[in-house]
Amino acid sequence: MDEAMSLVRLRGKDGEKITLRRYGAHVTSFVVKGREALFVSERAAFQPPKAIRGGVPICFPQFSDLGSVPQSHGFARNAKWKLVETHGDRAVLSLKHEDVQEWREAYPHQWEVVLEVSTGKKSGAMDMKVRVTNRGKETMPFTFAFHTYLRVDACCARVENLKGLQYWDNTENRETKVDQENHITPSSEIDRVYLHAPDAIRVVEDSSGRQIIVRKQNLPSVVVWNPWRKKAVALPDMGDLEYRGMICVEPAVVEPIQLKPEESWVAGQSIEVRQFEPGKAPAL
Ligand code: BG6
Repeated sequence: MDEAMSLVRLRGKDGEKITLRRYGAHVTSFVVKGREALFVSERAAFQPPKAIRGGVPICFPQFSDLGSVPQSHGFARNAKWKLVETHGDRAVLSLKHEDVQEWREAYPHQWEVVLEVSTGKKSGAMDMKVRVTNRGKETMPFTFAFHTYLRVDACCARVENLKGLQYWDNTENRETKVDQENHITPSSEIDRVYLHAPDAIRVVEDSSGRQIIVRKQNLPSVVVWNPWRKKAVALPDMGDLEYRGMICVEPAVVEPIQLKPEESWVAGQSIEVRQFEPGKAPAL
């Protein structure tokens, strides 16, 4: 196995368990009260240069094709990050432009990205904080996403707090639409970029009495993605029926940040898992 795939394990004070890898600075597991909150495909390739299908891929220096790199979602998820430090419930990883020489032409900037992953301030939570610094002499554009794959029963879960918001529908050439529904429960492919979304999005699974709240900091957009059957079949690293067990809720910035020399940009996401009495979800 590639050494960058070896596991880094974090433990929270209430038994939360986080597993991540240096490859992609990729969180691949977050367990709260014995139950996994993140989806990782059975067919995920844990083999560079492929990105890991599931967990929390880091999309940098671009989300999707929104940048100059000819690879969807940039290259940070395919790179070997350095583990700067790890202490029980917290890990810090970094990636610098000189670590990914092969992308210098496509993204000719000097930069550093630092990611901190920790068991959250709240019980049952995981916090991820990213800092991007421009070390060059030119303004540096980038887009970004935490491409979070949640392990939920897609057919019955509700993604809440997006009603009335404008989104790009990626299934229809980024046509701009307005979400009219009280919540999203996918029943076909869904691939939406909500440009300005509230900072807390909740995914509720009534049957199991579990809710996962994705909170974002300094990231205006949220992407909601489920490939559904046809796209899942076409993905070599996803099982044909696995779309039933996941929904991506991805805090993102899709309108490029223009970072000036020596400036830093900081953003974050927190994933909080809470149980409730089945059928009686509390208000968000
Ligand atoms: C989502 C995009 O963020 O990621 C989708 O909105 C894309 O359009 C999906 O299909 C998965 O991307 P990838 O590169 O990991 O297959």
